[in-house]
Amino acid sequence: MCGIVGYCGPRRAVPILIEGLARLEYRGYDSAGIAVLENGALVVRKKAGKLAGLASELNGYNGEARVGIGHTRWATHGCPTDANAHPHTDCRGQFAVVHNGIIENYLELREWLGSKGHRFSSETDTEVLVHLLEHFYRGDLLAAMYRTVECLRGSYAVAAISLLEPGKIVAVRQDSPLVVGLGKGENFLASDIPALLPHTRDTYILADGEVALLTPHEVKVFNRRGEEVRKPLYRVDWDAAQAEKNGFPHFMLKEIHEQPRALRNTLHGYLAKDGARGVLKGVPLEESWLREIDKIFITACGTAYHAGIVGKYVIERLARIPVEADIASEFRYRQPLIDRRSLVVVISQSGETADTLAALREAKRLGAPVLAVTNVRGSSIAREADFVLLTMAGPEIAVASTKAYTTQLLAMYLLALHLAALRETMSPEEVGRLVRELEGLDGRAEAVLQNGHLVEKLARDYCAASSIFFIGRGLDYAVALEGSLKLKEISYIHAEAYAAGELKHGTLALIEKGVPVVALATQKSLFEKTLSNIKEVKAREATVIALTMEGQRELEKVADHVIYIPEVDPLVAPVLAVIPLQLLAYQMAVARGCDVDQPRNLAKSVTVE
Ligand code: M6R
Repeated sequence: MCGIVGYCGPRRAVPILIEGLARLEYRGYDSAGIAVLENGALVVRKKAGKLAGLASELNGYNGEARVGIGHTRWATHGCPTDANAHPHTDCRGQFAVVHNGIIENYLELREWLGSKGHRFSSETDTEVLVHLLEHFYRGDLLAAMYRTVECLRGSYAVAAISLLEPGKIVAVRQDSPLVVGLGKGENFLASDIPALLPHTRDTYILADGEVALLTPHEVKVFNRRGEEVRKPLYRVDWDAAQAEKNGFPHFMLKEIHEQPRALRNTLHGYLAKDGARGVLKGVPLEESWLREIDKIFITACGTAYHAGIVGKYVIERLARIPVEADIASEFRYRQPLIDRRSLVVVISQSGETADTLAALREAKRLGAPVLAVTNVRGSSIAREADFVLLTMAGPEIAVASTKAYTTQLLAMYLLALHLAALRETMSPEEVGRLVRELEGLDGRAEAVLQNGHLVEKLARDYCAASSIFFIGRGLDYAVALEGSLKLKEISYIHAEAYAAGELKHGTLALIEKGVPVVALATQKSLFEKTLSNIKEVKAREATVIALTMEGQRELEKVADHVIYIPEVDPLVAPVLAVIPLQLLAYQMAVARGCDVDQPRNLAKSVTVE
C-alpha cells in the first residue's frame, strides 16, 4: 500500500524524508511527494511515477526545513497523476496531509465540504482529510485531528503538518500501520520499520485509534478518548543492513538466497527438542484443546494462501483433522461454519493485509481462537491474534514473496507434526523422522541454490513465451500455484497452474506446439499419474520442463528438460521444489527487462480490501 514518513528535529528534513521513502517504496510506487515547513511557508513537491522522478525534480535541493512529511503512493482513488499524488493541502495552503488506506465515506464528506466552500484539486479520497482539518482548526492541530477522525469511515494512517503550528507532526492510525521512531532531540514517523532503522531502533508501534503528537523533543500518544497513554517501547532486533541489497542486484534474489538461513532460524525458534509434548515450543496453544479441535481453517492471500494449501495437505495427512484453506477475501463473506472447537490459522508475511485482518476479526467474532503465522512482530495481525508463530525470515522487501513462503511452509509442518504428536496419529518415531527431514532442509535448500545454472539457461531460452503452464498433483499442485503466481507477477508472462489431472477437462485445448509446461513430479505416490499427464501435453507438442527429485531419471525420456532437487521425504519437497521456480521467475523477469522488485500495479502490503 502507500508509505508514509515524517521527521521533526534539528537536521534538514528533505534528505531524511527522501531516504525514508526509498526504504518504503516497496509499499507503492505510483507517485511520491513531500511537504515541509520552510521559512514560514508550506512547500510541497510531488510527482507521478517512482521516487526517482521526484528526486530528479528536487535536483539535489535539501532546503532548510526541519519538519516534514512524505508519501509514496499505490493508487486506489484517482489515477497516478501529479495532482493525485500526496501530500494534499487545504484551500489556503496551511495544512498538508499524507494518508495510507481508504476513506470509505469520502464522497459524502467531499459534498459536505464543497457546500461549505472548500475547493478540491484532486480525485483522491485523501483530500477530504486536509479540508476537514482546515474546517475544524481552532488553534489546535491535535484537536482538529480528533474532530476530523470522528467524521471518517474506513482505514487510515495519516500524518499532518501545519504552518500554523510549525515544529509538530500529528499522526493517527486505524487499520493501517504507523510506527514512531524515537531519536535524541529528533523524532520520526513511518509506515514500516525499515525507514526508521538508519536513525533509531527505538519505536512505538501505534495501535488502532491512537493519535501521536511528535515534536523534536517529545512524542505523546493519546487514545481515542484523548487520554495520554504510556506506550511500551519496542526495540527493533534487526538492523538496517538486513533491509539492504548487500551486493545482490535485486532484493528478490537476495531474499531467495536467504532461505536456508530463514528456514534454520524459524526451525530453531520453534522446534521443541525433547518431543515429549509435541514438537512446537513457544506458542502457548493449550494441549488438551488441541487434542479436541475438530476442524481447522487456514486463511490468507496470495503466496501466503498457497502456503495455506500446503498446510491443508500436511495437517490432514499427518494429524487427520479436516482443514479448509480459504482465500481471506472470500472467507469472511461466506459465513464459515466456525465455533470454539475450530482453530483458525491466518498467514501473512506483513501482518497487515486488510483481507486477512478482516478474516481474523470475523473468526474471532465467531468465537474461534486464532493462530497467526506472520513475519512482522507487532503487526496488526500479530497483535490481534490469540497466538502468534513468528516466521523468522527477516525483513522481506521485494514485492514477490519468497523467503516468507518457505518459512510459512515450515510453520505448517511444525503445526501438523505438533498436532499429530499430541493426537497420536503418528508414532513418535515417525514424528522424529519427519523432524529430521525438516532439520535437513536448510542444507538442501543451499544445494538447490548452488545448482541454479540450468534454470538460468531455461529462463533465457523461454523468456519470450507468451504463456506458461504449471502442472502437478497433490503437494506439487500447491507448489505449481506458487510458481505460476511468482512468474506472472514479476515477468508479466501469462501463467496458469493446473492440477495435472484436471488439464484434460478443458485447459488441454490451450496446449499446442512449443507451449512451455512446467511439470512438477516430486510426489512418489502420484508419479505414474503425473507422468501420464506429462505424456498428454507432450502428445500436443508442448515443451516440458519437469521438476523432480534426484534419482527419478525416468522423466529424462519424456521431458525436454529436467530440474532435480535433492531427495527428501515427498511431504517436505515443496520447500525445495519452489526454489527453482522462484529462480525461474526471477531470471525470466530479468531477461525481459522487468522491474523485478517493484512490478507494475502491485504493492508489497495490501492494506485496503
Ligand atoms: O503480507 P501478506 O503475506 O499478507 O501478503 C499476501 C499477498 O499480498 C502476497 O503474498 C502477494 O501475493 C505477493 N506479492 C506474492 O509474491
